[in-house]
Amino acid sequence: MPAISATAPGKIILFGEHAVVYGQPAIAVPVNQVKARAIISARPDQPRGWVNFQAPDIGLEKNWDDLPADHPLVLVVRGVLEATQINQPPAMTIRVSSSIPIAAGLGSGAAVSVAMIRALSEFLGRPLLDEDISDLAFEVEKLYHGTPSGIDNTVITYEKPIFFTRKDTDQKGMMEPFQVSKPFTIVIGDSGIPSPTAAAVADVRKASQEDSMLFQDLFNSTGKIVYQARQAIENGDIAVLGPLMNENQSLLEKMGISSIELDRLVQAARQAGANGAKLSGGGRGGNMIALVPKESAQQIAKALTAAGATNIIITTVNS
Ligand code: PMV
Repeated sequence: MPAISATAPGKIILFGEHAVVYGQPAIAVPVNQVKARAIISARPDQPRGWVNFQAPDIGLEKNWDDLPADHPLVLVVRGVLEATQINQPPAMTIRVSSSIPIAAGLGSGAAVSVAMIRALSEFLGRPLLDEDISDLAFEVEKLYHGTPSGIDNTVITYEKPIFFTRKDTDQKGMMEPFQVSKPFTIVIGDSGIPSPTAAAVADVRKASQEDSMLFQDLFNSTGKIVYQARQAIENGDIAVLGPLMNENQSLLEKMGISSIELDRLVQAARQAGANGAKLSGGGRGGNMIALVPKESAQQIAKALTAAGATNIIITTVNS
């Protein structure tokens, strides 16, 4: 049996992170320059039910029995076996690799889950639908993010720009694909500071409990920006997106989840000619994004590197 492989892209949140956890909409787009990949190979030399995991990026090579029951790779496999109603899968090696930076707001965890679910369900001869793939990846995200909104698994599964609204804590969110009338260019700059999303989300929760009036206001204002941004993207009115990004950034700063390093990169991008810039994802560290005129992308990337960015990705947002 030939090896089965599947990939899943990274993602960025263009508008609305954090407020999305509290019911406001957010806009996310896939980033195809970075990918997670899962390759499943049959191991006819081993008994049924034997599963070997290889994840060289994190130095892991272990059999199923040697990993804790709540390890994310184990949870993904268990979820797929349940969803496909297969008890004893044929023996296999699951090899996972990813070029998506970890804990950087680019959705690396969700992308690994989605690539694995796609490859494994196909390997088992029962390929799952996108909706089921996204749901399963969400279950795994919940165990690692605390209270994820579900935006990561959704945009990474569907691989297109989405307007996303969470329903309530336990339910999956609602996703609406929408038209990008005019492609636009985003430069993504990595602050080089790993920042687990769960910690940032927990801090915003705590702060919002301490000053609920202020945070309600910050979340509502974010929601308004997201609606305006969607309209601008659908109308191809890219000129208004930059200022909206800057407004979103100033709300995120008030939520307390920017950082000196992110602020420095955001400033550097604006000074180098970006139309707007903001942090993207959980914040504190991880990545920031800048909306740039296509012809200035390289120059703005250089300015970000000079200001301390440890990695740069230039991507085009398209339907
Ligand atoms: O750090 P990321 O890219 O996984 O994004 C987190 C986005 C938040 O809104 C902060 C949390 C969430 O689950 O939506």
